[in-house]
Amino acid sequence: MAKDAVGEIMITQAQIDERARELGAQISQDYAGEELVMVCILKGAVLWMGDIMKHVELDTVIDFMTASSYGAARESSGVVTIKKDLDCDIKGKPVLLVEDIVDSGITLNYLKHNLQQRGAKSVRICTLLDKPAGRKADIRADYVGFEVDDKFIVGYGLDFNQKYRNLPYISFLKD
Ligand code: IMP
Ligand code: MG
Repeated sequence: MAKDAVGEIMITQAQIDERARELGAQISQDYAGEELVMVCILKGAVLWMGDIMKHVELDTVIDFMTASSYGAARESSGVVTIKKDLDCDIKGKPVLLVEDIVDSGITLNYLKHNLQQRGAKSVRICTLLDKPAGRKADIRADYVGFEVDDKFIVGYGLDFNQKYRNLPYISFLKD
């Protein structure tokens, strides 16, 4: 594995665990008494979804979606397509989209509106990382793990050309 392309550790597993515990408690409070549909945006959010859901003390249903706007490039193409859709019906239900990173915001902006149009009761976003410098769409996450600088992030689910998702920490790609 080309580890020499990866920079220093920016965020450790212990920091992520602690943040997941805090946000899980917040989500449990905010949705008290409701049945929550947690939607993991594949593939990047897979580790973060696992961390968050452990700390959500609600009746919870999980589901998965795959959206694509990137291909193999570092910059978003701006065109979003749903490659794998939900199995469950979200009509009338509160939905929490769990994402790895909000960069341009184009993907989540599209997905949020798409799920609202299907009649979800509410659609909120829980992201591991927020990169405000990259924002193009008018969207913000309701629950943010960590804010990151304008670097290309890898690790803990985030990839470059499908690699580095398995790193148990968050780092960045050197130029
Ligand atoms: P968007 O630009 O907010 O639409 O981001 C869409 C997707 O691009 C995210 O869900 C990530 O999978 C990916 N992405 C955005 N920024 C980065 C990054 O810094 N590293 C790795 N993947 C990224
Ligand atoms: Mg991705």
